Amino acid sequence: MRAVTWHGKRDVRVDEVPDPRIEQPTDAILRVTSTGLCGSDLHLYEVLAPFMNPGDILGHEPIGIVEEVGPEVPHLRPGDRVVVPFQIACGHCWMCERGLPTQCETTQVSEEGSGAALFGYSRLYGSVPGAQAEYLRVPQAQYGPIKVPEGPSDDRFLYLSDVLPTAWQAVRYADVPPGGSLAVLGLGPIGEMSCRIALHQGVERVIGIDLVPERLGRARLRGVEVFDLSAYDGQDDLIAAVREATGGRGPDAVVDAVGTEAHGSPVAKAQQQAATLLPRAWAAKLHQKVGTDRLAALYLAIDLVRRGGTISLSGVYGGAADPLPMLTLFDKQIQLRMGQANVRRWVDDILPLLTDEDPLGVDTFATHHLPLSDAPHAYRMFQRKEDGVSKIVMRP
Ligand SMILES: NC(=O)c1ccc[n+]([C@@H]2O[C@H](COP(=O)([O-])OP(=O)(O)OC[C@H]3O[C@@H](n4cnc5c(N)ncnc54)[C@H](O)[C@@H]3O)[C@@H](O)[C@H]2O)c1
Ligand SMILES: [Zn+2]
Ligand SMILES: [Zn+2]
Repeated sequence: MRAVTWHGKRDVRVDEVPDPRIEQPTDAILRVTSTGLCGSDLHLYEVLAPFMNPGDILGHEPIGIVEEVGPEVPHLRPGDRVVVPFQIACGHCWMCERGLPTQCETTQVSEEGSGAALFGYSRLYGSVPGAQAEYLRVPQAQYGPIKVPEGPSDDRFLYLSDVLPTAWQAVRYADVPPGGSLAVLGLGPIGEMSCRIALHQGVERVIGIDLVPERLGRARLRGVEVFDLSAYDGQDDLIAAVREATGGRGPDAVVDAVGTEAHGSPVAKAQQQAATLLPRAWAAKLHQKVGTDRLAALYLAIDLVRRGGTISLSGVYGGAADPLPMLTLFDKQIQLRMGQANVRRWVDDILPLLTDEDPLGVDTFATHHLPLSDAPHAYRMFQRKEDGVSKIVMRP
């Protein structure tokens, strides 16, 4: 089959690889019909390179048709249409029973000290072959895959694999009080969907901050009050403007949907780039021990949120020893909540919104549909934010 494979920093290719097969009684094989490209993939494309091996298959946002199931997957049959969560979880361990499948104790990658295994997400998450491929082996298929109806386009349900539950969790964790305000940093697919969900749930003031004109424009059209980072002299001016718009105090909650690739921390950027040029073993250690994150977005969130407010991190951070302004966090009495999205935890809340009325606008959410063979171009364009790109869906 053909699959998108990682070969080095900013080098992805479409290779011919062996078809996946059922290996465990709880496996299923999916024929992928659509597969998303995510901001998380961009981390692998560049800064998480030390944790990748050449030939690793990328991707974690698939929808498709079940081809084959193992003997211990009672609820699925060949021909079923399913969307598959980006994390692999068992559904019956202590963590899964408590709604925390990203911490699944059956699939935890203990060698790396990580939580649940993820599709296509480096050695840190189990080196599981990913979903930007014609076929996908789905481990723990007795729990993960979500059956969806025939009829609507793939895009209607595809985002249940990641974007929707991630944005949903971000807004839930933000815990905006009635009549309150929410600022969302980053208006990529995750941030923009977080804005849509917050507005749908009745959050009164939703503020979006980014610096890409097309992304600001898209959010504005849906009723978000947008602030263009690049229009301010410095961060302090931006913070002052947002504060002024929120009664002088700042928003009640801030969602950070940027993560480690934030613009605006040049020193850390140099460190990060050095890490990706070092020999692999050294680079991995530097990344984990020294902490090479770019924390610009998180620092902005900390300064922006009102005293006593909440920060909800959905952007991915990966350094182990990044400096945090503890004085400010403590003094402002900030609540910090974060993590990979617990996909199945939120699916029952989200599914009723995936109707013909399409209140979240999922049917038209993708900016680009491309064949899987265009993956190298898709990654490049998405990283550079060219051509008005936001969400890319690839078709094998
Ligand atoms: N928690 C989860 O389960 C989960 C799931 C999916 C994605 N993610 C993470 O969410 C983040 C966003 O993903 P995406 O697909 O939307 O990616 P993306 O890279 O398209 O979006 C990031 C956006 O942030 C903007 N940005 C950069 N620096 C900024 C700054 N200092 N202030 C404000 N905006 C800034 C960029 O212009 C871009 O539009 C990534 O870190 C990704 O890894 C987390
Ligand atoms: Zn994703
Ligand atoms: Zn589990």
